[in-house]
Amino acid sequence: MKVAVLAGDGIGPEIVAQALAVLRRLALPIEFAQAPVGGAAIERTGEPLPEATLALAREADAILFGAVGDPRYDAAPAERRPEQAILGLRKALGLFANLRPAKLYDALADASTLKREVVAGLDLLIVRELTGDVYFGEPRGVRDAGALGREGFDTMRYSEAEVRRIARVAFEAARKRRRKVCSVDKANVLETSRLWRAAVAEEAKRYPDVELSHMYVDNCAMQLVRAPAQFDVIVTGNLFGDILSDEAAMLTGSIGMLPSASLDERGKGLYEPIHGSAPDIAGKGVANPLATILSAAMMLRYSLGQPQAAERIERAVERALADGYRTPDIYTEGTRRVGAEEMGRAVLERL
Ligand code: IPM
Ligand code: MG
Repeated sequence: MKVAVLAGDGIGPEIVAQALAVLRRLALPIEFAQAPVGGAAIERTGEPLPEATLALAREADAILFGAVGDPRYDAAPAERRPEQAILGLRKALGLFANLRPAKLYDALADASTLKREVVAGLDLLIVRELTGDVYFGEPRGVRDAGALGREGFDTMRYSEAEVRRIARVAFEAARKRRRKVCSVDKANVLETSRLWRAAVAEEAKRYPDVELSHMYVDNCAMQLVRAPAQFDVIVTGNLFGDILSDEAAMLTGSIGMLPSASLDERGKGLYEPIHGSAPDIAGKGVANPLATILSAAMMLRYSLGQPQAAERIERAVERALADGYRTPDIYTEGTRRVGAEEMGRAVLERL
């Protein structure tokens, strides 16, 4: 098995190092190959996603990804921004299905900013479409609008085929869970959403054993903080999924806890924490490596056919939390405050 390791920017290298240590400890026949991506790649080659990095990602069985983003490039044109690397990888590799599970670990119920009784029982999966929507729609740009000055514009678009494809992923996932899918859109306003809703409903006919509901995205944002345990699988488009998954992450205590898988049609995938490069804490050794370690577990399960190894990692994380280890983002009084390395070691010992 060959894994491309793209650590990227900010805290990326620190957290990926911990995930790699965990993977190596399993002593599976995995070959790791590292390559620069994001701001780190711009620095070396002038491009966020160099040809060699993309080639490595293409030939690998799976990709372990850290994070990209660097404030030094905030003013750069789109194609020279670190974020272009992850968007380019998703598009080039056809990674259309983004799975973002949000689960509350018992030990962390008090680390959430929401009351314990609100987040109790939280175990949901956001299935976010990842290669369409306003993220990639054309035309887009900034143009002259005469007396109004310049205007910026993007195109929100989804084809029926794209919607049905991601709906299938959601329905299949629900079958392995509590058999409930909530499709999130803005069908009271957007044409794209009206088509989305119709296409999901059409696809649902092939899954009579799964209960389908529809919700407007503004209501969903509210329901997520009001009564999040009502959700099993949420399926939604690229932009809404981006926003709702950050919100869902906070229910679990910290965005530093949420892993993700981005899969193509054949199950090849890129695995990354849903958080970003966190330049404010980069290099301080305080980042939470658990989202990346849990992403490595997802990689073993979805792309490398090693479900038992995945479970071992997940259990080790659970135990490290139960034993009181906490990075600053999930720290509460009476627990043990540690940095990225010490958290990684705590997981390794329990593995
Ligand atoms: C995410 C991130 C990315 C996105 C950025 C870094 C382009 O926020 O994976 O959620 O918007 O998809
Ligand atoms: Mg995001």
